[in-house]
Amino acid sequence: MSDVDAMLARGAEIAERETATLLANTQVSKTLYDEAVGTMPLGVGSSFQAGDPYPIYLDRGLGSHVWDVDGNEYVDGHGGFGVNIVGHAHPKIIEAIEKAAHTGTHFAVTTRSTILMAEEISRRFGLDQVRFANSGTEATMDAIRVARAATGREHIVKIEGSYHGHHDAVMFSVVPNSDAIGGRDMASTIPMSTGIPKVTAEYTHVVPFNDAAAFEAILNERGSEIACLILEPVMMNIGICQPQPGYLARLRELCDQHGVVLIFDEVKSGATVAEGGAIERYGVRPHLACFAKALFGGTPGAAFGGDAAIMDVIAHGGCAQQGTFNGNPLVAAAGVAALTQVLTPEAYEQLAHLGSRLANGCQKAIDEYGIPAHAVDLGAKGCVSFRPEPLQNYRDFLETRPELFAAAYPWAVNRGVFMTPGDEEQWTLSVQHTDADIDRYVDMFSGFCAQLAG
Ligand SMILES: Cc1ncc(COP(=O)(O)O)c(C=O)c1O
Repeated sequence: MSDVDAMLARGAEIAERETATLLANTQVSKTLYDEAVGTMPLGVGSSFQAGDPYPIYLDRGLGSHVWDVDGNEYVDGHGGFGVNIVGHAHPKIIEAIEKAAHTGTHFAVTTRSTILMAEEISRRFGLDQVRFANSGTEATMDAIRVARAATGREHIVKIEGSYHGHHDAVMFSVVPNSDAIGGRDMASTIPMSTGIPKVTAEYTHVVPFNDAAAFEAILNERGSEIACLILEPVMMNIGICQPQPGYLARLRELCDQHGVVLIFDEVKSGATVAEGGAIERYGVRPHLACFAKALFGGTPGAAFGGDAAIMDVIAHGGCAQQGTFNGNPLVAAAGVAALTQVLTPEAYEQLAHLGSRLANGCQKAIDEYGIPAHAVDLGAKGCVSFRPEPLQNYRDFLETRPELFAAAYPWAVNRGVFMTPGDEEQWTLSVQHTDADIDRYVDMFSGFCAQLAG
């Protein structure tokens, strides 16, 4: 048996043992699941929250910690899928929400807080104009419509292995099965849900990440039909996959040459990887960018925006962009407090310190025990991928070891670190995490590596 095979075998033993412990420790969650499944498919409000055989249900959060319904306390590494960069129940966010609650939570009329939020987003990310939405899904849906309206074209290009929300146009090749996708030089449009009209696939083209030549090839073939390229500038739904030097700049150049709108989906990276998101971190400007998650202080807001000439189709080009709750005063107040009072330049220094401490600690354990993995450090975000080399694209993600994730998840939860069950997520740290939280995580992970190494 090779070292890796032996490790995988130990991983399977750990997964079985630790899962049994996790289930024994979460019996109130099981009871709640039995109740919830009566009224909600899979017993949850969104399929991303489902669990096998049932999910852990949370009761509350405070600072960097969460408690489940069984009373187990955890350091929160899950971060609400990348939302909770301000941590839980932050006093400044409570104050903003309380004030909004006392003065009216909804009017469907624009308020001063909505304008302030638009100004702050515009300043941070260097966007001429901004519009609001209520989820990342809506933000990417609206940005794509604006791009189509501005160009008069109908086709779009996305990246294999990227998630942009659950609207039809982008629900292709998010996590396609390895047996359906063909060789490494191919990327086909594979639907990720039933219920999507077949014809939609004809308008969505898929290319690999970090491969500007593949995008150029599709432009040469049908550039005049393509409205936009939408991509996460740093992929964050396969762990973390960073752009190679020059890749994003080349995409911008190609889009400019062919009159294609370049859309950055910064739903996960915006406000987490730097104050100015991936736009600042990688130094390339898109024509449009989409935001949600971490920008709104833990409330359900979203926004998109960019070049005035493109956004102008909303005011003067007949492009419908609307929504009853868009720019809602409660959400806007929480967002303004998050961006202007909590997520200060000093907060980003602290997040960088914590993130590096965590990623370095994990990498040290990986090196010490010879685990086939690597750690990624990216501001408030980071992850361990069970593949020795950094990922370049989705095909590399397929080479990671799901068996080791399956063992790592219950191991972490049983030792007081709350994570997402899937192998595609990453940790999200908050301004309320402490060095002690990070050390607890590193100790937990080092113990896991030691067990795997045998
Ligand atoms: C990159 C990216 N875009 C869009 C979305 C969709 O956001 P929402 O779940 O708020 O609709 C997500 C959600 O995880 C995401 O990761």
